[in-house]
Amino acid sequence: MCGIIGCVSDSDVLEILLDGLTNMEYRGYDSVGVGVHDGKTIKVIKVVGRVAELAKNPDLKSTCGKIGLAHTRWATHGGVTPENAHPHLSCDRSIAVVHNGIIENYQLLKNELELKGHIFRSTTDTEIIPHLIEEELKTGRNQRDALLAAVNKLKGSYAFLVLFRDLNDRLYGVRKDAPLIIGLGGNKNFVASDVLSFLKHTKEAIFLDNFEVAEVRRNSYTIWNFNGEEVLHTISTLAWEATSFQKKEFTHYTLKEIHEQRESIFKAFNQDINEVDRFCLSLQGVNRVYIIGAGTSYHAALIAKHLFIKMAKLPAEVILASEFEDYIPLVDEDTLLLAISQSGETADVLSAINVGKRKGASVLSIVNTPTSSLARESDYTLYLKCGPEVGVAATKSFTAQLAVIYSIAFRLSNTAADLQRLSKAVNRVFDVERQLAYLAQVFLTAKDCYFIGRGLNYPIALEGALKLKELSYIHAEGFAAGELKHGTLALISEGVPVVALNPNDKTYHDTLSNVAELKARGAKVIGVSDVANPLYDYYVEIPSVESIFYPIVEVIPLQMFAYYSALERGQNPDYPRNLAKSVTVK
Ligand code: F6R
Repeated sequence: MCGIIGCVSDSDVLEILLDGLTNMEYRGYDSVGVGVHDGKTIKVIKVVGRVAELAKNPDLKSTCGKIGLAHTRWATHGGVTPENAHPHLSCDRSIAVVHNGIIENYQLLKNELELKGHIFRSTTDTEIIPHLIEEELKTGRNQRDALLAAVNKLKGSYAFLVLFRDLNDRLYGVRKDAPLIIGLGGNKNFVASDVLSFLKHTKEAIFLDNFEVAEVRRNSYTIWNFNGEEVLHTISTLAWEATSFQKKEFTHYTLKEIHEQRESIFKAFNQDINEVDRFCLSLQGVNRVYIIGAGTSYHAALIAKHLFIKMAKLPAEVILASEFEDYIPLVDEDTLLLAISQSGETADVLSAINVGKRKGASVLSIVNTPTSSLARESDYTLYLKCGPEVGVAATKSFTAQLAVIYSIAFRLSNTAADLQRLSKAVNRVFDVERQLAYLAQVFLTAKDCYFIGRGLNYPIALEGALKLKELSYIHAEGFAAGELKHGTLALISEGVPVVALNPNDKTYHDTLSNVAELKARGAKVIGVSDVANPLYDYYVEIPSVESIFYPIVEVIPLQMFAYYSALERGQNPDYPRNLAKSVTVK
């Protein structure tokens, strides 16, 4: 993970770098640092904490320069300390590096470099990069060639930027298995992990491919492959607006994005029919379909599997992207991988599809970020169209994923649905917001919370639990309601909150029996349903909808519950501890 940005400009870059980092804090926010070339030296300032901490640092006042790089960190190798924050420097401080990813052979390289006299100041894998380049410079190579020689010794997945003290008009960016994009801003150019960091300045971008090195100057750039051969790229015009990153009247992005679902779900439903048909043809034309995702996207995949079987008798297997390796022996030319991802940059997902492609499988994807690696590496993609999601917890992207999945299931089964009725229902769900804020207060001291549901409601139980644990840090688990009696009931004692997803569908009576079993053991049951029942201690009323749409109207109250529980417990819901939005490491 981590966010990196570099800028070469005709004016001071410090503010631009800090602003760019703020827009990438979703990628990591445990420590932060900046390096600016002041004409003579590279001045580096780094702190533990978020960009706002760095912005208060008094040393920044005397820092200025027209070229610099910056980093927001999600620790992988080495603890969260100022020494481990980036940029990292070579021994003579003439080379500064910021890095996103993992250098797998760093230990070996570090041992070799230490034997040659290099002194390391951090415990990160990153720090070997400036030292390695420094070593290659000693052979008489110029900076670009030394960088290429160093890159060819690295193993792992990475994107990093290099600033040389002795070249104060250019930055280098290197990409292998982690995103890196050049932004072309007229009198200033950028190179960064995400377009969000420079979207305010330009919509013209170049997406580097794996095994590429870019040299970026104020008003020009050159790209080579790792063999040093020049590569030409087309310039893309970005579709997203910088204004979509404003919180508007909301206190947090997470709450704003929960509310945006009134519209975003229906934007996602609005797919081009020909594109959906093409998608369906591919799905039907193979022997085996594997649906792949991680976290919330995995929960959307579980719903896709239910719907494809239920509505179109299309068998599909769902696999956690990080567990895909065990299925490789079954993958061949007659296999289709359907990858679901908000960011399109999740390393586990990209690794699964790359392995699948090597074995001849075709790849479809459902993605939010149009310019993502997954979108570019898939044979065909349907987009969520819900705009950028900034809150670390997936909210509007989940329901947009469901909308795309419904669109596919409708075409596969030649059916349609009353979306106007659904739209009214989605608007009505927001009537329970105050009640959810109240329930978050009621369960302020709860240590555990369980979620149950059957059939299509089971993935929503998993999703409700994931949202609650990641935002509020309450221990939460989702269970298939029928599994309670096979072990989980032992966890239930007096006062333990259990959220029962029990809409008026074919699972209603069975789940109600499970609620009775829970009540008999002292649980406090929050019933999420369109049918009131005295068994519920608290009744969260959802609107009645066609049974396949219950997941949509159930999950929104659960997102609110997680959001308000975080607020009650004094956590910032936009930036949960230890997490990052785009998980670009395996
Ligand atoms: C949970 C959450 C994560 C992501 C997961 C996959 O709220 O956001 O579990 O769903 O990291 O991310 P994408 O969908 O970007 O592949």
